[in-house]
Amino acid sequence: MSVLTRRARPPALQWLASVAQGWAEQPDIWRRLVRPDATGRWVEPLAVNERSEVWLQGWPAGEHVELHDHGGASGALCVVAGQLVETWATGLSAMRLRQRRLDRGAVAAFGPEHVHDVVNAGRTQALTIQVYTPRLVSMTFYGFRRGRGLDPVRTELSDHPVVAPGLLVRR
Ligand SMILES: [Fe+2]
Repeated sequence: MSVLTRRARPPALQWLASVAQGWAEQPDIWRRLVRPDATGRWVEPLAVNERSEVWLQGWPAGEHVELHDHGGASGALCVVAGQLVETWATGLSAMRLRQRRLDRGAVAAFGPEHVHDVVNAGRTQALTIQVYTPRLVSMTFYGFRRGRGLDPVRTELSDHPVVAPGLLVRR
């Protein structure tokens, strides 16, 4: 299943989705990085260059991220284990939120205006391959109120480990 949101240019989103799927189809590269006993969200870098980055992310049962943007980056995530529920707004002026379930194999690609929260509502750890371009530097978190829409609450630097571009491409 491929899910493309509306606002970003389709070619960029298709490229992001295909990169995520390409990594998803190579579990021999990332399977050994999985932390089966993790109790909180975790990430492992798979590839980083100046303009993009690919991560393996673990979502133990119940883990979630509040509504956030990606600091101007576009991205894609591919679910390689478990399932997630994504609630998203189509842009910063959106007055309603939408929701979709992302099962194993689902790819969600999104443009720079995408705001979403993601939760693992299942009983087992979910795993995703995540791609961002440009690199994910910061995320602004939002509240949402019916009739008022999104309201920025705070901006944080990415919680991903710092990886120098070009130093890491797992094979
Ligand atoms: Fe996100």
